Amino acid sequence: MENNMYQIDNISECQRIYKHPLYQKELERIRKFEVDRIFCNHGFDHFMDVARIAYILNLEHNLGISRNIIYAAAILHDIGRAKQYDEGIPHEEAGADLAGIILADCGYSEDDIALIVDAIRNHRSNHVDNTQNTLGDILYIADKAARQCFDCTAQKECNWSMEKRNMEVYI
Ligand SMILES: [Fe+2]
Ligand SMILES: [Fe+2]
Repeated sequence: MENNMYQIDNISECQRIYKHPLYQKELERIRKFEVDRIFCNHGFDHFMDVARIAYILNLEHNLGISRNIIYAAAILHDIGRAKQYDEGIPHEEAGADLAGIILADCGYSEDDIALIVDAIRNHRSNHVDNTQNTLGDILYIADKAARQCFDCTAQKECNWSMEKRNMEVYI
């Protein structure tokens, strides 16, 4: 059968992550914690924004990272957020631990898990030299690019530094 070039056919592995009971539990906990939050939320639409932008960067810079790896990292990158709210664990640490468990259950290889977990653990620090050539780089850049600070009603109260904020429509 001829391939439909517009077919979106590569979702099964991320679907497994999304359906994982631990993932669902933590996603729901984040939702509850953030119900009255005036600042950026950390729900599934943020995760998908990050996934899309990271994948675009991957294409534009010819990095050759697989879509399943990028989407897995993106939909897991803030999954530790509830543990930050209730246990005070930095969410990149909590998220890296949760991601390790979930990815192993979903059948990701040890190498892929190590790559994704490392990118999640470092997604708040520009640990690399911002050369846009690793999963960690594009996750960091996409995470920031996904926030439209210039259009946010909580700008005055937000503790993000001005350097970190997106104050123009970047394309
Ligand atoms: Fe984060
Ligand atoms: Fe994020």
